[in-house]
Amino acid sequence: MLQATFPCTKTHVSPFFFILFTLLLLHPLSSLSTEPPQYSATTTCSREMVTRCKKIWEILCCTSTTTTPQIHSRSLISCGEFGSKEMSEALPLKSALQLFDADFFSNSKVKELPKDAKEFNIPVFRANRKMVASENGGLHNPSVLVFNSEWGMNEVPHKNKKFSYPSPSDINVPEKEEDMAFMSVIELGYLIKTKKITSQKLTEIFLHRLKRYNHTLEAVVTCTEDVAYTQAKEADKLLDQGVYLGPLHGIPYGLKDIISVPQYKTTWGSKTFQNQVLDMEAWVYKRLKSAGAVLIAKLVTGSLAYDDIWFGGRTRNPWNIEEFSTGSSAGPAASTSAGMVPFAIGSETAGSMTYPAARCGVTAIRPTFGTVGRTGVMSISESLDKLGPFCRNAMDCAVILDAIRGRDPDDPSSKEISLEDPFLIDITKLTVGYLEDAEMEVVDVLAAKGVNMVPFKLNYTVDSVQGILNFTMDVDMLSHFDEWQRSGQDDVYEAQDQWPLELRRARIIPAVDYLQAQRARGKLIREIRDSFTVDAFVGNVTDWEKVCMGNLVGMPVIIVPTGFKNITKPPPGGTRRRTTITTGIYAPPQHDHIALALAMAYQSVTDHHKQRPPIDDLGPNDTVPNHPSVNIPPRQWHIHV
Ligand SMILES: *[C@@H]1O[C@H](CO)[C@@H](O)[C@H](O)[C@H]1NC(C)=O
Ligand SMILES: *[C@@H]1O[C@H](CO)[C@@H](O)[C@H](O)[C@H]1NC(C)=O
Ligand SMILES: *[C@@H]1O[C@H](CO)[C@@H](O)[C@H](O)[C@H]1NC(C)=O
Ligand SMILES: *[C@@H]1O[C@H](CO)[C@@H](O)[C@H](O)[C@H]1NC(C)=O
Ligand SMILES: *[C@@H]1O[C@H](CO)[C@@H](O)[C@H](O)[C@H]1NC(C)=O
Ligand SMILES: *[C@@H]1O[C@H](CO)[C@@H](O)[C@H](O)[C@H]1NC(C)=O
Repeated sequence: MLQATFPCTKTHVSPFFFILFTLLLLHPLSSLSTEPPQYSATTTCSREMVTRCKKIWEILCCTSTTTTPQIHSRSLISCGEFGSKEMSEALPLKSALQLFDADFFSNSKVKELPKDAKEFNIPVFRANRKMVASENGGLHNPSVLVFNSEWGMNEVPHKNKKFSYPSPSDINVPEKEEDMAFMSVIELGYLIKTKKITSQKLTEIFLHRLKRYNHTLEAVVTCTEDVAYTQAKEADKLLDQGVYLGPLHGIPYGLKDIISVPQYKTTWGSKTFQNQVLDMEAWVYKRLKSAGAVLIAKLVTGSLAYDDIWFGGRTRNPWNIEEFSTGSSAGPAASTSAGMVPFAIGSETAGSMTYPAARCGVTAIRPTFGTVGRTGVMSISESLDKLGPFCRNAMDCAVILDAIRGRDPDDPSSKEISLEDPFLIDITKLTVGYLEDAEMEVVDVLAAKGVNMVPFKLNYTVDSVQGILNFTMDVDMLSHFDEWQRSGQDDVYEAQDQWPLELRRARIIPAVDYLQAQRARGKLIREIRDSFTVDAFVGNVTDWEKVCMGNLVGMPVIIVPTGFKNITKPPPGGTRRRTTITTGIYAPPQHDHIALALAMAYQSVTDHHKQRPPIDDLGPNDTVPNHPSVNIPPRQWHIHV
């Protein structure tokens, strides 16, 4: 037994600890708690430490009297570190981690864990347990994680009926390039279809804008010029041959850089992966390619899809370049807002579309969970990750969603969701709720359009919604980045207070409490379903509780710009910089068409979505700053994911 590594030493039992150990064995426990430690003054070890040592020794040795412990620590704790109070609290955890086969954290990292566990993990364990696990056995409160034994091999992919897009008429190529850059996809598609402009010309215009404004916005990871001109030429050639692929034929766009495209880097926004090339076509890229769209850029994702900080910088908000864009779909939101792409594909795990779309003032739809296949996309959480479009307006969102939805055979969560045609919805037959925090202009406009608008409140009893979201997202993320954490690559992560901290906390969430969270999530979903007594509702889209709730339920929401405010503390002489105002239109899962139809109705008589942000024309006395002055805290405003 004495051959075993003693957990208070770096390697084997040192002479000092041999003495200490002898003391521990000789002293009755009671004397340890009352008398000062009796050892030489060459160390800083406290009485507390002695108690801890004893406890750990018991865990490692004394509890197994017949066998030598097999557990060895890679980085055991030295006596000096032992002295601190946090460390003495962390010590039992340090040894417990050996039992999880997770003894790889440095001492300083372990030191943070007890505080974090108490503050973030334990309250959620307790809340969920009380809610769903106070009764034993039975199939009540089933987990939302559902096992499907189907092998899904001989599946016949069935095609959704396409939406009936309106066709514009009498549109001409504007004189100014900028006017072209802010046209909608439907308008640009018309110019291409009628051969008033070529796809190659459009590609050139938008590539030029990407380069021009990236300097200020830090929103572009890679311009994919080669593939862009190849695809644009092909689109023009097909049209010359009389083949028209639909409204996306020849339209340039960008992809969030968590989406793989062969031959280009897929950096995930992260220093660790900034040279990664994944030689695969993501499913969503394939869909857009077959619709004739032209990939011109890989746009910024916050590092590992968290917030707006990435290895090349921090993406800014085109409406107020002193601010950051929030994230993590930072590039898609900022680039669409600034007219650098007609549309872009981003993703959301929790807030990654809603936050940047709201801040950058663009229309975006976070569709029903499972609508868009995720093969070839970096995974955070299988049950939360969703892809969706950032656009100039809701009509474009409908067009893009129509092109990218459908079952992806390699993504078991994706589904053929049969949405109704949003262009054929009679909104006067709808009853739409509005929450206390809804933007009233939207409510008034929809009421004037004949929608039955009623005050509304979501009613649910689950009070650990934000905790359930944290557990689900963080544990799932850690399972996808296990090796990254184990090998210490999290040390070079761009923002140490974000993923690195959260994923260490996730390491000590027991499997049973993770599953209780999934049962609690099931309860939340049933309560939301039962209280969703309207066809849709209007409400705040950046309120963190709603972001968590909406993502846990998997319900769609469309983010709609509804106006602007003056910035606080404008420079003397004024500025064109503005704060955007936004609201969300939420619909039940698989009713994305309702949210789209309502947003289209609102935008048909308002023009907030048509305003253009000031990027290099800020006002007489306002200049582009070198460093944004507003520091946006992570996730409360964001994420990630
Ligand atoms: C965009 O700007 C960032 C920040 O300066 C830079 O790291 C990145 O390389 C630029 N992207 C392109 C495509 O030039
Ligand atoms: C809210 O939900 C609770 C529990 O499900 C129910 O008892 C209550 O009647 C509901 N209240 C409203 C206003 O629907
Ligand atoms: C969820 O995690 C975030 C980020 O660490 C933290 O700020 C927040 O307080 C957590 N929420 C709960 C309910 O634990
Ligand atoms: C929406 O929620 C965010 C975050 O809580 C808050 O800052 C904002 O003021 C809210 N908007 C409205 C209209 O209540
Ligand atoms: C611009 O700033 C200068 C110096 O601060 C000031 O003299 C001038 O009046 C300002 N211009 C306007 C239009 O406010
Ligand atoms: C906003 O700022 C402009 C000048 O930049 C000013 O004319 C206008 O009155 C301001 N609006 C409000 C509501 O303060």
